[in-house]
Amino acid sequence: MRVILGVTGCIGAYKSAVILRLLQKEGFEVFPVMTRSAQQFITPLTLEKLSGHPVVTDLFDDQTAQIEHIDLARKSDLLLVAPATANILGKFAQGIADDFLSTLYLSTTTPVIMAPAMNVEMWHHQAVQDNVGILKERGVVLVEPGSGYLACGEVGEGRLAEPELVLEAVLNNFDRKKSLLGKKVLITAGPTVEDIDPVRFLSNRSSGKMGYAMAGEARLRGAHVVLVSGPTQLEAPGSVDRVSVRSAAEMAEAVFHHFEDSNIVVMAAAVSDFTPSVPASEKIKKEKMDPTIKLERATDILAILGERKTDQLLVGFAAETQEIRANARRKLNDKGLDLIVANDISRDDRGFASDFNEAIFLDPSGEEQALPNLPKSELARILWDRIESISHVKA
Ligand code: CTP
Repeated sequence: MRVILGVTGCIGAYKSAVILRLLQKEGFEVFPVMTRSAQQFITPLTLEKLSGHPVVTDLFDDQTAQIEHIDLARKSDLLLVAPATANILGKFAQGIADDFLSTLYLSTTTPVIMAPAMNVEMWHHQAVQDNVGILKERGVVLVEPGSGYLACGEVGEGRLAEPELVLEAVLNNFDRKKSLLGKKVLITAGPTVEDIDPVRFLSNRSSGKMGYAMAGEARLRGAHVVLVSGPTQLEAPGSVDRVSVRSAAEMAEAVFHHFEDSNIVVMAAAVSDFTPSVPASEKIKKEKMDPTIKLERATDILAILGERKTDQLLVGFAAETQEIRANARRKLNDKGLDLIVANDISRDDRGFASDFNEAIFLDPSGEEQALPNLPKSELARILWDRIESISHVKA
């Protein structure tokens, strides 16, 4: 799940760093956006380092910025503005788009949450309250400011709500009825790496993004998530038990260890089908290197799970470049799966390494569901809905 965190200029801006961290712990990927005045209170560098993403500060930062707001809005699942000044409340309410954040608001179709922070007189001013009324009517969720000492020295309402309350509003927005509560979900993600010698290896282009999106969504639904991950650049969603592995053999061992008491297994990893027969413990010198590397079949983890399964629900992936449906259906049957997610990896703008994926779900009854090209977080939500509908039938 991706959250855009808009930060506007008031003393509470420093708390945005805490809010960012809390969101990350819950498994959200956070994209910070700062207004010009926010940068007077906290530097973009702080939010950039914490989030791992460049902070967008201006509509005219570079030539691509004009469309960047549309791209960012399309990729995210929620716009959170914390703290939100009287100024940004007014701009959102009236549809004024004179900087990046206010322009982004007009291009977003996701839910919007705002946590206002300002002086008590400002908060109670009729103009501000009118704008708050307009925003609420439009469906924007307001995290009401708290009472206490304000930076201006006065005591009263206007303080940015505690970060925990802001987090709660975000979690409520994503509340998927905790439909996987009590379930243990085993997910694999990323590539595997098969060593030839201590320097060289065989691997593949999987980024792990789909498996991590599945893990984040399962956690939001209340599952106990074990994420067995090959080497990736991704940070694990919060409260997920990540087991880091390297080779197909290591992945097999971790998956088999967790399989028995799992309820649902999602094999999103791109597991190597072959591994060098005899990996060298010392670096092979080129003069002595045989230009042919002898390989042997790696364990087909999912096929073994298909044989061993009792009442676990098994979901596999099929990354194909041709005859997508036929190849996926063969894998579904051969490995005894309940569902397979097929995708065409021949295009650069979707599938491997991309944030988007265009998938077809196939099940043993012969039913097929073809989906459009979607952000992986959105695909994860639809896929979990589908898996849950099968598990209800099975239960
Ligand atoms: N898989 C696995 N263990 C392997 C290889 C793949 O568990 N050694 C899983 C993948 O995680 C995925 C599914 O099996 O869920 C993919 O099926 P597979 O037939 O192995 O796909 P490919 O490796 O792409 O097969 P092919 O090269 O024949 O297309």
